[in-house]
Amino acid sequence: MKVGILSGGGDAPGINAVIRAVVRKGVQHYGYEIVGVRDGWRGLLEGEFLTLDLQSVSGILPRGGSILGTSRTNPFKREGGPRKILENAEKAGIGAVVVIGGDDTLSVAHNMGELGLKCVCVPKTIDNDLYGTDYTFGFNTAVSIATEALDRLHTTAETHRRVMILEVMGRYTGWIALEAGLAGGADVILIPEKPFDVGEVCEYIKRRHERGRNFSIVVVAEGAKPKGGKEIVYSDSIDEFGHIRLGGVGYYLGKEIEKSLGVETRVVVLGHLQRGGSPTAFDRILATRFGIAAVDLVHDGKFGRMVAIKGNRIVSVPLKNVVGKRKTVNLELYEIAKVFFG
Ligand code: F6P
Repeated sequence: MKVGILSGGGDAPGINAVIRAVVRKGVQHYGYEIVGVRDGWRGLLEGEFLTLDLQSVSGILPRGGSILGTSRTNPFKREGGPRKILENAEKAGIGAVVVIGGDDTLSVAHNMGELGLKCVCVPKTIDNDLYGTDYTFGFNTAVSIATEALDRLHTTAETHRRVMILEVMGRYTGWIALEAGLAGGADVILIPEKPFDVGEVCEYIKRRHERGRNFSIVVVAEGAKPKGGKEIVYSDSIDEFGHIRLGGVGYYLGKEIEKSLGVETRVVVLGHLQRGGSPTAFDRILATRFGIAAVDLVHDGKFGRMVAIKGNRIVSVPLKNVVGKRKTVNLELYEIAKVFFG
């Protein structure tokens, strides 16, 4: 059988480890021919493929990004898109597709599945907000990078007696902010799930300064918003899945804190440093286990499912139970983090 594989949406460290696992087990164990699809759903829409043999996946385990490229193409927003995908898959002899993606990419897989495309899915996002799995690969790497950034910010913040604000990714959920903030000893952590009050943030910083700590570290997720307000957007451009580009909440906070407390403040937006580069060992192993489980699902004919990790077990869940939902942060963990605020 010919099995297609694609990666869609924002990249995440570990995509190549998934691809490698699918190719290695697919070719060596099941005798499949693996076809790489270029740039997510765009490649199936436009019929752009490449053959993936053992040679083409050699050495890619530690490499960030995706050797297939990615895009945020939504075939359901294109004239005749779904039909073209079915036709191109048939023309190329592709009998099943392994889809690596976040909620948007997987919702297309779900809808294409209803139209007859045989898909199995692998959950990917550094934001860790996909429903149905305890973890997505890429998240652990992002948290490690953000934690290192916090460690570095601590020394300069202390030396200059400043408030340092680190803005991290997390459009709808604050997983990266929360876990990196906990690991990096942040004094305040702001997440989309808990709209913030600038006055309260300033109180935490004041309390800290009153007990002789004359520097502070604030971590804020890009999607965090003030109480009664809206997310801060970087630009009004909207992608094919209806997402606006966020960014700037760190600067907003920095100005407010300076205005209110008169302390010197600096802002760092970590941005795509969180998504680029080599995956951690944890993400390499998780991505490898996901890839193996995905190709096993293809072999077992279990389509319309997503591989997942529950506890330390790899399982699979029906796509229809996953898409359109969101895994928000563990609020118990947030309560633990709050013990260290201020
Ligand atoms: O992958 C999800 C995410 O990391 C969000 O947190 C962020 O808003 C988005 O990607 C930004 O991606 P891009 O710059 O590629 O549009």
